[in-house]
Amino acid sequence: MLKGKKILLGVTGGIACYKSPGICSLLRKKGAEVKVVMTKSTTEFVTPLTFQTMSNNVVHVEMFNQLFNMDVEHISLAKWADIIVIAPATANIIGKFANGISDDMLSTVLMASRSKVMIAPGMNTVMLNSVANQKNIQTLKERGVIILDTQTDLLACNDYGSGKMLEPSQIVDEIDRALTPKDLEGKKFVITAGPTVEALDPVRFITNRSSGKMGYALAERAEKRGAKVTLISGPTSIDIPKVENFVRIKSTRDMFDEVGKYFDECDVLIKAAAPADYRPKNYSDEKIKKGHDSDMSSIEMEQNPDIAKHYGNQKKHQILVGFAAESTNVEEFAKEKLAKKNMDMIVANNIKRTDGGFGTDTNVASIITSASIDNLEIMSKVELADEILDRVKKLLS
Ligand SMILES: Cc1cc2nc3c(=O)[nH]c(=O)nc-3n(C[C@H](O)[C@H](O)[C@H](O)COP(=O)(O)O)c2cc1C
Repeated sequence: MLKGKKILLGVTGGIACYKSPGICSLLRKKGAEVKVVMTKSTTEFVTPLTFQTMSNNVVHVEMFNQLFNMDVEHISLAKWADIIVIAPATANIIGKFANGISDDMLSTVLMASRSKVMIAPGMNTVMLNSVANQKNIQTLKERGVIILDTQTDLLACNDYGSGKMLEPSQIVDEIDRALTPKDLEGKKFVITAGPTVEALDPVRFITNRSSGKMGYALAERAEKRGAKVTLISGPTSIDIPKVENFVRIKSTRDMFDEVGKYFDECDVLIKAAAPADYRPKNYSDEKIKKGHDSDMSSIEMEQNPDIAKHYGNQKKHQILVGFAAESTNVEEFAKEKLAKKNMDMIVANNIKRTDGGFGTDTNVASIITSASIDNLEIMSKVELADEILDRVKKLLS
């Protein structure tokens, strides 16, 4: 989580620096404090005022300013940062950093810092792959500097190839990953997410309103905290988080089968999906025609397997976490479900609230175990994911 983190954004004179104010903006939206150091070349592309506005902080370009508060700025900036992120990083700054050159504000801050450093290169393919640049990148990797990949695309210079800086959202995601303590290192998580769909014919199906956001937030945070995550997801339209193993399924029976493949080996199964409890009894291989061969005024249904209950009964060492989305008697139904399905923890929420539940970015939940009930405040699904994982960690130990 980036809330309260101190990020020093170094911006160098690559054409991708027009995207760097976007990095500033995303970081601030996530609650981080941002200070910007620009090189002189960068000011040819973007003005310091843009970064000053987006970071809400003074922007540093010059090395030799009057001392402000008698502070030697390159030292105080270096000490301040939890992480220094250079985005975009030119071939020039990579070369200077690798070889210990400190001839301007940014390269001097880098020399003076003990913080983590992340580099998001952005340059023409030939520059990126040049022997000198690759050697410099290798030197920095060996020193523990995090070097991000580049994208392969049509570049600003009209060449097609690698060297395009990652998008601001991807860079912010990597910063979050770098700053998250790996307290779930090596633990194997299976997380289910999203709705399932139950087909009537090749074009029609029955489903529900689950967006997958809660399950995806859990997968994202577990992965960033060091877990090996298998995310089994029904159809969704949101970005897939970076996980070790992503499995797309359609029906509840598909989800049941996929969970079965990973269950024995996992440490934790989190059932954040909303699998359909029932499916149409008869599936038609051909599209059902209105008024022709069938009466669509009623659909006969049959029960799907109960995934949580089945694996609750099978579990040995695994921690099982479920969700209860209820519209009445939330706590009572959740406790009943916890016991009936042999879960270790259940996250209950009232789907009638407009600020939590299906489709929203926030949730108001209670986390219930056989021994405790924690009624949590309204928070983002990402924050709730960390609350859940904190408790899972305790159960694991
Ligand atoms: C229009 C234009 C675009 C440039 N784009 C890049 C680039 O994407 N990557 C890069 O490494 N250098 C690029 N350069 C070259 C750098 O600006 C140049 O090497 C400069 O000395 C870098 O200084 P700095 O690292 O101190 O910012 C570009 C130059 C110009 C004129």
